[in-house]
Amino acid sequence: MKQKRDSKREPIINSMLMNQQNGKMGIGIDFGTVNLLVYVQGHGIIFDEPSVLAYDKISGDVIAIGHDADSMTGKIHDKIRIVRPLRDGVISDLKAARDLLAHVFDRVKLHSDLSETRVVICCPSEVTQIEREALKKLASDIGTDDVFIEEEIKSGVVGSGVDIYSSRGAMIVDIGGGTTDVGVLALGDVVVSKSLRVAGNFIDHEIIKYLRQVPKLDVGQKMAEKVKVELSTLNPDAPNKTLKVAGRDLMTGIPKYAEITTDEVREVLLPIFEGIYKLVIETFKITPPELCSDAYYDGIILSGGASQVDYLDKFLADKLGIHVKRSPNPMTAVVLGTKVLLKSHGMRVNIDDYTLI
Ligand SMILES: Nc1ncnc2c1ncn2[C@@H]1O[C@H](COP(=O)(O)OP(=O)(O)O)[C@@H](O)[C@H]1O
Ligand SMILES: [Mg+2]
Repeated sequence: MKQKRDSKREPIINSMLMNQQNGKMGIGIDFGTVNLLVYVQGHGIIFDEPSVLAYDKISGDVIAIGHDADSMTGKIHDKIRIVRPLRDGVISDLKAARDLLAHVFDRVKLHSDLSETRVVICCPSEVTQIEREALKKLASDIGTDDVFIEEEIKSGVVGSGVDIYSSRGAMIVDIGGGTTDVGVLALGDVVVSKSLRVAGNFIDHEIIKYLRQVPKLDVGQKMAEKVKVELSTLNPDAPNKTLKVAGRDLMTGIPKYAEITTDEVREVLLPIFEGIYKLVIETFKITPPELCSDAYYDGIILSGGASQVDYLDKFLADKLGIHVKRSPNPMTAVVLGTKVLLKSHGMRVNIDDYTLI
């Protein structure tokens, strides 16, 4: 798939895009459970931060957003509340979603008048129609009327450089923070999809559980995430690395260190990725046979932050007997896909338009 950047062509293309959007500037938002990314046409990705806010419990005021709020996780006192607007792939706090959108729209205003924008918000497939309407209303209350909602997996496939507007099917497995979403797309839309509330956050919790059970160490989510990022591999032949983790001894209550190894983390990971493999099988079972055969020949795309676990592509490929390809940009595929979706607005686009990515 063509992904070349041609800086000379880009200004011309951007002005073409603007014309096709009635002179409006395109804004793409990947509203994830863990991270929120914003793309502004002609300016690239202008926001890439955790989708988290900190509130003062007494006044109700927002005291931190994004990285600043995330760094408070696990360290707050009882006057601060940490909120993630999306939990397990559904909108769990509409006010927080509004506050986060208002914050990113303030950033967008540095580049364009909000009334002159067309916005696409990508959200997980589990987000209901009512929640989607609520998101659209939030965006228009904040000042932009021209908003449409798209499936995260659809944008993820486009942003991975695949032409979804052809009749050829493409399968994606997106493993984010809250959910794993498997989908098959053809002729510009999602044909079938399945979702499981098992992804990066669940891996963190399983690592916490393991550390509590075996070395009897109580660790926070940030420490568990560090273990996941540094030690995760599904390769049985990977060198057995060790990481020192700090926490609280469950027996004595005193802070202490314990060690955890790659082999131990793999034991935690295996049942989780078995579950994700089963979700792929379940999705194949409801996929029309012609699209199954396309996936057989073209392979499956892996995207999302937690898809970066070492050896996952080979693990799934061995079990399925199908080629599994990693997205060239697992963390940004969704927001990059909005470049094309903004232009097509759900319609078919010419394959040449993919050079825009
Ligand atoms: N190198 C890595 N290995 C494993 N997991 C990772 C890695 N980098 C990020 N993650 C995990 O990816 C998840 C976030 O992925 P993302 O696609 O941004 O989620 P969402 O779309 O739900 O916001 C987090 O759980 C994070 O810990
Ligand atoms: Mg995502």
